[in-house]
Amino acid sequence: MTHVKVCVIGGGSTYTPELVDGLLRRREVLDLHEIHLVDHDDARLAVLGPLAARMAARDGGGVAVRWTTDRSVGIAGSRFVVSQIRVGGMAARERDEQLGREFGLIGQETVGVGGFANALRTIPVALDIAADVARWAPGATVLNFTNPAGLVTEALCRHTDVPTIGLCNVPWTVKARVAASLGVTAEDVDVDYVGLNHLSWVRRVSVAGTDRTPEVLRGLEERTSRVMSSAHADGEPEWTPAAIRLLGAIPNYYLLYYYETDAWVRFQAAHPTRASAVQEIEAALLRRYADPELTEKPVELDSRGGAYYSEAAAALMADLVAGTGAVHVVNTPNRGAIPGLDADVVVEVAARIGPNGPEPLAVPPLRADMDALLRTMKDVELLTVEAAVHGDADAALRALVTNPLGPSMSAAAAVWARLLEMNTGMLGRLG
Ligand code: G6P
Repeated sequence: MTHVKVCVIGGGSTYTPELVDGLLRRREVLDLHEIHLVDHDDARLAVLGPLAARMAARDGGGVAVRWTTDRSVGIAGSRFVVSQIRVGGMAARERDEQLGREFGLIGQETVGVGGFANALRTIPVALDIAADVARWAPGATVLNFTNPAGLVTEALCRHTDVPTIGLCNVPWTVKARVAASLGVTAEDVDVDYVGLNHLSWVRRVSVAGTDRTPEVLRGLEERTSRVMSSAHADGEPEWTPAAIRLLGAIPNYYLLYYYETDAWVRFQAAHPTRASAVQEIEAALLRRYADPELTEKPVELDSRGGAYYSEAAAALMADLVAGTGAVHVVNTPNRGAIPGLDADVVVEVAARIGPNGPEPLAVPPLRADMDALLRTMKDVELLTVEAAVHGDADAALRALVTNPLGPSMSAAAAVWARLLEMNTGMLGRLG
């Protein structure tokens, strides 16, 4: 086995210690030799680089940690390239949320007009990164966490030859929660996980071949009922026991934007943006990271939404290197896994990690309501990718009006004009 180098694009992210921690914990099975952090932000690298180096030194020093603003240097010779960028930074996330508020639409970083704007900014940059990977590290696999992760992975799989796997922490979180509710470990649990990134359902849970779904759904109904009774009137929208009963599945948290759109729009209007909250958390984290005595991932990092993301990445890399044939939930072309859906569209499903990458496992057909939402949103994603890749403004407008979260046809032109204005110079061929 050759030594493994992992390059992290967006290595200046405050999430990086989480990833470094996960990689170091699997360094032997990975034969990890080097972690190279790449970021355009020197100041961030000057904090995250030394912290990652202290973490590696504490771990025995067998892993070299380097950092650079030169992407080609960071990528060169890597076996894995983790992409975790945010084009335009938190300021752009804030503007996306404001765009939603201005028009009474969802401005979340991965959903609604927020996710749409984020995709249009990010896809051109993600394609540039892939071109660098093809040039400087041929054969390397890109692990994409960059949001909106499903859309960005769709663009990379559709428009490049670089092996790309899209990842998210949600499948890990769901499995861990289900396991805890059943009093077993996550490894013991099999889930029928199906959908797109941030638009998925777990329809069946089994432990050692026994179907435990009714018990899990009953527990979820009880929990939602407890949450409801203690919830504040102006709190975040939550699932209700009736919703869980009707869905008959464990819904991805992000599906609340589709099933409780009005409540989310009201919540947004009455509360500060998530971007502003995250900016405060990040400022505190960066102060903490700068402490030369700090040699491990601090607990404060748990206040971010990305818990378990290092597990998703490091465990997948380990299984790719060791060729264990283990099963992971990933974003990958469908290839017949979800019946009736095109082979080449990216879906979020369980896949066996074979020598040639993920082989998605077939799942039973979707119920009509799930199928309808999934297909519609996949079409919205495909239109969005087309808009970003070809600079096609009509495709962008069609994506907007096809999204069940709006805008309506008569408002679309105004939303589009405002989006262009807010993102001038950041939209590749769209301006
Ligand atoms: C979850 C999602 C990620 C997202 C994160 C946001 O982990 O799956 O896609 O990036 O939450 O967390 P934040 O703390 O930035 O709001």
